[in-house]
Amino acid sequence: MAPFDLIIFGGTGDLALRKLLPALFHRYVDGQIVAGTRIFGLARDSQTDEAYRERVREALQKHLAFDMRAPSMLEPFLQLLSYRRIDLQAEDGWGELAAELADESRVRVFYLAVGPDLFGSVGAKLQAHGLTGANTRVVVEKPIGHDRASAAAINDALGQVFAESQIYRIDHYLGKETVQNLTALRFGNALFEPLWRAEHIDHVQITVAETVGLERRASYYDKSGALRDMVQNHMLQLLCLVAMEPPSSLAADAIRDEKLKVLHSLKPIADGATSHLTVRGQYRAGAVEGRPVPGYLEELGTNTSRTETFVALKAEVSNWRWAGVPFYLRTGKRLADRMSEIVLTFRKVPHSIFGDEPVAQNQLVIRLQPDEGVKLWIVNKIPGPGGLRLRRVPMDLSFAETFGGRQPEAYERLLMDVVRGNPMLFMRRDEVEAAWSWIDPILAAWQSSNESPKAYTAGSWGPSAAVALIERDGRTWHEDAV
Ligand code: BG6
Repeated sequence: MAPFDLIIFGGTGDLALRKLLPALFHRYVDGQIVAGTRIFGLARDSQTDEAYRERVREALQKHLAFDMRAPSMLEPFLQLLSYRRIDLQAEDGWGELAAELADESRVRVFYLAVGPDLFGSVGAKLQAHGLTGANTRVVVEKPIGHDRASAAAINDALGQVFAESQIYRIDHYLGKETVQNLTALRFGNALFEPLWRAEHIDHVQITVAETVGLERRASYYDKSGALRDMVQNHMLQLLCLVAMEPPSSLAADAIRDEKLKVLHSLKPIADGATSHLTVRGQYRAGAVEGRPVPGYLEELGTNTSRTETFVALKAEVSNWRWAGVPFYLRTGKRLADRMSEIVLTFRKVPHSIFGDEPVAQNQLVIRLQPDEGVKLWIVNKIPGPGGLRLRRVPMDLSFAETFGGRQPEAYERLLMDVVRGNPMLFMRRDEVEAAWSWIDPILAAWQSSNESPKAYTAGSWGPSAAVALIERDGRTWHEDAV
């Protein structure tokens, strides 16, 4: 890959130090980032290049502690980095930056690792300084708005400066190896696709469970909550990849068109339906992984917040392929385990020849993290001379055992895709807005109800109402037990 320029607004922030720079280091070690590439960290304070490199060195040593594959490459990597002081609201620093980036033939990536309220003003500055030419790309992180209208306003502001093809909206879940594998699994195997529909699938579950609490993001999270933070983006993207029709190719728009159709097919959950199709929860003090942890309100230092730290909901994709198949989604903080998975449960056998012996339904479990892999649960005879007794057992593909090596982090793939100019794993404007259009009525109904989120103990699997949500339909949340 030719040398390029990457300019990180928010260069001293958490995202840059914890995710972006470690990802870039790995790409450097693998030879994808070559000499001549320049990485600029931008922020408001004054500091020298050397002080910035020192800060990045410490961050890399901390975040890559067990994965510092090539310590001798750390110093040469750091030499690609420089620090520039910039004032996003005023003129300081912009002229100098424009002069340094004058070579229009180089790919130039502006990474806006700053709040979305600044996207518009940064865009305007870039335009005013002639920094928006054809080889320029801009990367923005979620949250893209807090509802459809604010997302549209952000998209309008970006759209005034950049063509849609220059804008890369990151949803880091799309960069996860296991999420990309979903496309390979569905469309690289003739086995699954004929079964991938309402006639054969009983229901789908998508779980993204976290053990972490607020971390240091209280002010953002309390305004957001789990529905905006996780469902509007990551979980709906996962749902789209499971539910979409086969795209005609891997071209970015071929895939994005199919995902958009799914978003448009989601049956609205409006007013009256929210109380039986959605559950919100908020954690109370408990113990996670054997350690006592405070409740959400204690972490926040208030007793008034109604922000949800857990959501479970039942969605439906109203089209020929999926009509009548529930998609149960759940996500939450401070749950019993860190675990993300997609489970497709197949229908029961139409007629059992095994008398009283129960016949379990087949399940395809796509484990996104940790222990990435795919399991297909099938029914087998328990060996032995006794009667014909059945047990479900997994056909188990572990990525680590099968492919060995390290699993690249999502940002490694995504950052390099921006440099290559491949938007396949990024969200198009209409997807983001369509997702909000489905989320907005749920938020509105929650706001107008006087119910508070249901309490759940930290370290549990969420409020009992989430169990009831699925059990009412005669189903249970998937647990990985034989
Ligand atoms: C982020 C959310 O988008 O995803 C966080 O804002 C969440 O609240 C994180 O913790 C989860 O990402 P991962 O990759 O750790 O599953």
